[in-house]
Order: sequence, then structure tokens, then C-alpha cells
Amino acid sequence: MASDSRDYGSPEYWDQFYKSSGGDGVREWFHGFELLRELFERHLRRTDRILMVGCGNSALSADMFAAGYENIVNIDASMVVIRQMLRRQPEMDWRHMDVCNMAEFRTGSFDAVIDKGTLDAILVRRHHRHHRCYSQLAAAISLAGEHSAVRLPPPRVAT
Ligand SMILES: C[S@@+](CC[C@H](N)C(=O)[O-])C[C@H]1O[C@@H](n2cnc3c(N)ncnc32)[C@H](O)[C@@H]1O
Repeated sequence: MASDSRDYGSPEYWDQFYKSSGGDGVREWFHGFELLRELFERHLRRTDRILMVGCGNSALSADMFAAGYENIVNIDASMVVIRQMLRRQPEMDWRHMDVCNMAEFRTGSFDAVIDKGTLDAILVRRHHRHHRCYSQLAAAISLAGEHSAVRLPPPRVAT
């Protein structure tokens, strides 16, 4: 993701991406639920209030929901994917929202934040948003909460 010229931090880029994937598409970045399940068992309670940032059309939220983590709010900056996911899983909570502007949530609304590839996507070309995004995440999460990120490795520096 880091080495090409696509604008992964732009909602327009993702709207186009999800339009062409079709309403039933699933694009799982990095790992899916099966690989993450053990980590979640260790760090999350089934009753935790979980914020999934940049949910995309990944199956992770639905798989977690089926495993008993029913208190998940999913946000994404792409309206296209939020509409698709609302149609697909109407019993779940999907919201069109920018992770760097989450004023609608009260401070400490969540026990855990899961970020799988989203801040990576934003920061590829918008590094200046780093502070803003992290401070929004810090505000959303309760004092005892956790921020789990599945990220790209740092870029290698040629010497
Ligand atoms: C690499 S994809 C990861 C999708 C999903 N988390 C997964 O693991 O399969 C990045 C996602 O972040 C979303 N995104 C990009 N910028 C965003 C922003 N500022 N706020 C919320 N979501 C954003 C994109 O629409 C896209 O769905």
C-alpha cells in the first residue's frame, strides 16, 4: 500500500473502489477474524463497546458479531461502503464518519478501538493528519480502553 501513488486517504478513491467491488464484495486487508480471534479473546470482553474504524467491506465485524461481540460501531469515510454494509447487515451499526472527526461520540464512549489498515491508508499521503486522528481516537476510548491496530510494517529505508 505504501509504495504506490493511489490516494488511499481519499473517500472518493474508496467510493470508486467499493462501487467496482459490488454490493456483495469482501476485501479483507491483512488478517481476518480467525487469525485475530485469540488476540480478541485475550483483550476484549463480549460486552465491550467496540469502535471499528474504516470498516470497509471486511467480514471482521460480522464475524465478531456472530462470535458474541455485539456492541460494535462501524465507521467508514466511504458512503458507498456504508450503504452496502447497511443493506448486507442491517442488524449492525454502520455510520458514515471520518475517523479524524468523530465529534459525534462523547469522550470515553468505547472500551476498544480496532483499526485494521485505516490509519495506514490515511497516513500514506496525509501524514499531517497523524496528530488529529490519534487525538480523536484517544478521546473516543475510555481510560482503561485499548487501541488495537493491524498495520503495515514501517517502510524499509534503503542505505
Ligand atoms: C485498507 S482499507 C481497510 C478496510 C478494513 N478495515 C479491512 O481491514 O479490510 C481502509 C479503509 O479505511 C477507510 N477510510 C479511509 N480514510 C478514512 C477516514 N478518514 N475515516 C474513516 N475511514 C476511512 C476506507 O474507506 C477503507 O474502507
